[in-house]
Amino acid sequence: MKTQLKIAPVAGIETEMLAVLAADTQTAKDSDAKPQPVLLSADEAVLAAAAALLASGEYKAGANETALLHAPAGLAAKRLLIVGLGKQAKITMNSVRNAAGTAVRFAKPRGIRELAFALPADEQLSGASCTRAAVEGAFVGDFDPDTYRSDRKDQSVKSFTLVSPVVAAPVDAEKKVPEAAPADADKKASEATPAVEDKAAKAALEAALAEGVILGESQNFTRALVNEPGNKLTPTILSRRAVQMSEEVGLDCMTYSTDRIQDLKMGAFWSVAQGSAEPPALIVIRYEPKGVTEGPVLGLVGKGITFDSGGISLKPSKDMDEMKTDMAGAAVMMGVMRAIALLKPKVRVLAVICATENMPDGKAQKPGDVQTAMPNAPGKPGKTIEIINTDAEGRLILADGLTYARQLGATHLIDAATLTGACVVALGTINAGIFSNNEAIYDKFNAALPVSGEKFWRLPLGDEYAEMIKSDIADIKNTGGRWGGACTAAEFLKVFVEDTPWIHLDIAGLALLEEGKPYIAKGPSGVGVRSILEWVRSYQTSASSS
Ligand code: BES
Ligand code: MN
Ligand code: ZN
Repeated sequence: MKTQLKIAPVAGIETEMLAVLAADTQTAKDSDAKPQPVLLSADEAVLAAAAALLASGEYKAGANETALLHAPAGLAAKRLLIVGLGKQAKITMNSVRNAAGTAVRFAKPRGIRELAFALPADEQLSGASCTRAAVEGAFVGDFDPDTYRSDRKDQSVKSFTLVSPVVAAPVDAEKKVPEAAPADADKKASEATPAVEDKAAKAALEAALAEGVILGESQNFTRALVNEPGNKLTPTILSRRAVQMSEEVGLDCMTYSTDRIQDLKMGAFWSVAQGSAEPPALIVIRYEPKGVTEGPVLGLVGKGITFDSGGISLKPSKDMDEMKTDMAGAAVMMGVMRAIALLKPKVRVLAVICATENMPDGKAQKPGDVQTAMPNAPGKPGKTIEIINTDAEGRLILADGLTYARQLGATHLIDAATLTGACVVALGTINAGIFSNNEAIYDKFNAALPVSGEKFWRLPLGDEYAEMIKSDIADIKNTGGRWGGACTAAEFLKVFVEDTPWIHLDIAGLALLEEGKPYIAKGPSGVGVRSILEWVRSYQTSASSS
């Protein structure tokens, strides 16, 4: 999808479809208070074109509610699409992001391949962050998981134009002499080009648009990976995809398999991999910006189970197919690394991805087996783990992944994993779970959420949970019984991160959307990419002390 920014009056925009936003300004709370939809546009022609619709009462400007008008009078656009943001008091950057996705998803099935999206003439909703969010939303909306349909028609939107209202001049702008004064001022006015176009403001919007493209494409990169079925994306193929992506964006990527995993004494990782005919893959991606030799090294660790059958503790058949998405955590970290490489924040980041199938086999590990995890320092013994349930495999591969990330120099850790059904029971498919052993790192992640628009809810760790995973015969066991399953899984990981500041994201409930929404297709969501990226950026050199 091509994108461009136009700073021009919307009435003159020639396009197949112009999308304009609307909000419900009704503030009364009583149930018979009628919605009061208003158009978020200052353009007389747009207001006039939509006046009858808004007066009809048919259109309420609910969140992502759409109405289409053909051949709108006074506009150069062929169609005018009104997209609702919902109640005005509740509008956020995320409302704009979703509205852009809604506009794109409205266009796709109708064969509309080109559209323009007008940001409101509202300072808060037309700034750089909303510009970025709108572009992200457009890319997210454009994605459909239809790679394997033989009748796939290319229904992607080809061109998305973001129309920004006239850039407000900073207070002192009047004093400035425009660098290149227009030769013919009258002609310029007649074309209704903004009289004062502040270059710095325009550059900021252009930069925001470029960021939006990177974020949107990176999220879709993740979603496309998650969409791959187990037979098309084995651990080896996943590692090739990591190499390919790294070459494209200029990252350093190393991949290893069985020998190296055994050399490193990754006994917990290998215990899962030993039962599969497909070799495992250990993927290490490094981002080291020039000149940054101090400050934190952020370690991103992803769960890359390309198919989770449960192993000898075999899962029931129902919905087992969904376990092809059990590598979503790995795909999220790859998407984040891609975006980092392109955005170039001044902070060192490394990703460790452990990829394997979890299969039943004559060589598979058995309930009751005792495994030895990777030692946390050379020469030291690794922790012993009693395997109670071979389906609790994610924590096993992450244990060694987290240990390895620390050995590679990570000072701060974050992992993402479709780890537990228990987390889905606790939070539904609305919030993903977040756990942390450190308030400063948690606060930074939390601060990223209003920007990312993703929903995470903190769940507890604690000594009582640690008690639940004590083993009679080994250091720990890999399940803690039926209750509090998301918490005991997190507590298991905590054993391996020790005192390193760490965040664990349990994305089991959100990685795969059961239902589509007006702004996003059913299927892989890419959840985590935006928040983790924002969190990474919060560590840029100025923040290196934390
Ligand atoms: N990959 C699953 C968790 C999962 C469940 C992801 C539903 C997405 C949707 C994980 O490996 C698993 O099987 N967890 C078990 C742990 C149990 C055996 C302690 C679970 O949650 O049932
Ligand atoms: Mn499992
Ligand atoms: Zn799993």
